[in-house]
Amino acid sequence: MSASFKINETTITQTIDALWLKNKGIELKIKRDDLLHPLINGNKWRKLKYNLAQMQTQNKTELLTFGGAFSNHIHACAAAGKLFNLTTHAVVRGPELDQSNPTIQFVKQCGMQLHVVNRIEYRLRNDPHYLKDLQARFPNAYILPEGGTNYFAVPGCAELAQSLPKHDYLVCPTGSGGTLAGLIEGSQVTTQVIGVAVLKQAKYLEEEVRKLSHKANTQTNWQLLCDFHDGGYGKFTPALWQFCQEMAKNHDLPLEPIYSGKMMYALWQLIKQDYFPAGSKIIAIHTGGLQGLDGLKYRGLI
Ligand SMILES: Cc1ncc(COP(=O)(O)O)c(C=O)c1O
Repeated sequence: MSASFKINETTITQTIDALWLKNKGIELKIKRDDLLHPLINGNKWRKLKYNLAQMQTQNKTELLTFGGAFSNHIHACAAAGKLFNLTTHAVVRGPELDQSNPTIQFVKQCGMQLHVVNRIEYRLRNDPHYLKDLQARFPNAYILPEGGTNYFAVPGCAELAQSLPKHDYLVCPTGSGGTLAGLIEGSQVTTQVIGVAVLKQAKYLEEEVRKLSHKANTQTNWQLLCDFHDGGYGKFTPALWQFCQEMAKNHDLPLEPIYSGKMMYALWQLIKQDYFPAGSKIIAIHTGGLQGLDGLKYRGLI
């Protein structure tokens, strides 16, 4: 990989100190991947890393991806473009684009070129014919799927799993399944890997995870929890947002309610319900996404 596509990947693992956890015999640690880089953090970097290498292998000089107007992925790709001096494009779900939205303002400042499409066209984002046309329009572009999830997203997340201290359970939020697939791929078979689905009716993601990870196909040491979506993608109850604020105040753990907060809220409830046996060592991955808080504030949702 080019030296120019490297960032320092060292992040801390924070222990959550709480008497009730001690009394249950549970050790809970958070891998603070949100601190990986101020702009390209969490699973965004883990999934981009080998995609950037692949882009170079294919002699492409531009990055083209897809996302909604508040997307963490678009935000990270724009920042990577700025940092590594790459032209970046985003096909953004419209039909209109609010130019004052903080995510859009940021990506534009980074120089990202935005191509706003209506919802019908956006639905074609994984269609091979549509992608072929897009490639013809942008011949220098390496096309990265929405959320940055593809085959090359897996090894970066596998490396993350391999870098962790000893644990019995590894937990992450799940949107498209790339992060979960990578964590399964990088884990020992003795580790139970748990994805907390952040969207409704997410069972289909199990198949996506199996497609991305050979181990997910052949091993049973993982599961996707589909009952903690809290209303669906981007939705959350006041109780969940309250929980995020309490975690920030009581445990110095900043969370947002779309991914990391949803996962932690689920995990907290599961520990309370004695889902994990005494003596369990649990690591939860903070996958970043804190930039999303600005968008939620902007829309008056928090
Ligand atoms: C902050 C954050 N955490 C978790 C996820 C979910 O990861 P994945 O799509 O790999 O399941 C995303 C979306 O990619 C995200 O932006």
